[in-house]
Amino acid sequence: MKPARAAAPGKAILLGEHAVVYGRPALAVPVTQVQASAALTPGPGAEFWIELPAIGRRYRLSRARPGDPLAAAVRLVLDRAGLTVPPGAVLRVESTIPIAAGLGSGAAVCTAVARALAGALELPLGNEDVSALVFETEKLLHGTPSGIDNTVVAHARPVYFVKGRPPEPFEVRRPVRLLIGDTGRPSPTRAAVADVRAGYARDRDHYNRLFDEIGALVERARALLAGTSSQPLGPLLTANHALLRELQVSSPELEALVAAAGSAGAEGAKLSGGGHGGNMLALVTLQSEPAVRAALLAAGAARVFATQVDATQVGATRVDAPE
Ligand code: MEV
Repeated sequence: MKPARAAAPGKAILLGEHAVVYGRPALAVPVTQVQASAALTPGPGAEFWIELPAIGRRYRLSRARPGDPLAAAVRLVLDRAGLTVPPGAVLRVESTIPIAAGLGSGAAVCTAVARALAGALELPLGNEDVSALVFETEKLLHGTPSGIDNTVVAHARPVYFVKGRPPEPFEVRRPVRLLIGDTGRPSPTRAAVADVRAGYARDRDHYNRLFDEIGALVERARALLAGTSSQPLGPLLTANHALLRELQVSSPELEALVAAAGSAGAEGAKLSGGGHGGNMLALVTLQSEPAVRAALLAAGAARVFATQVDATQVGATRVDAPE
């Protein structure tokens, strides 16, 4: 084994969250200004240690709590390498991705861990292998995930995703500029997905209609980003938000940010990810961006990221937080 390190980006869902769990399509992009990283150092003793310096935790793999996703990622890679006894090593995991914020923190830390350990063991793992392995850890974190988070994070490029199908990278010929506003409130994906499942169990027809409408918005947005439709994107985002509100995954904080973005000139806005808290997206132009940014911070955003979705990838310009 040799020392190795790896990093993975966060993610944002442009359209289609929740409905994607029920087989409808969704569009997601990596968010590269926040990232998780893992560094593996062989030795010094015979134990495999996991270190999380940000929260002051250090524990042996052999003593990891049941359901610990990091330990699961490690064990899955060791299994792939055919190692029944973990090697002595220290695995240090760090992340700038806010936890439980809808930005894919769980998938990103497990992706970084899987890649660092595979690198240390010189085990070749392709993006799809990493994605499949991280999907197993997502099940521990989220219960019944669609697989979109592990897919977009492991591939680190925009994806058009339908559960159970190979991901399709999507062409972005019409670049869009987004502000991502963080409510500062947690967005526990497992709870949000379970709430939608309970609603679905109560009224399947109604929920299926909402999921179909979300899926149709995703298809229109995909055509638009690919440049084959000249429709504006903003109303599609706002319509998706209204449907997510009907699914009851919005919150007063998200509503305040979405409304503030609209009043300040955003072309459209919606929650992004599991909801109940976490992040929202606002579609802006270079002209409207300063006013929308100020409005989001004034309406309670804990932080605002600027992101460009284009053919070359997603990148941030700056991160602002109130004083
Ligand atoms: C979470 O990022 C997206 C959800 O659709 C859950 C999932 O797809 O697994 C809410």
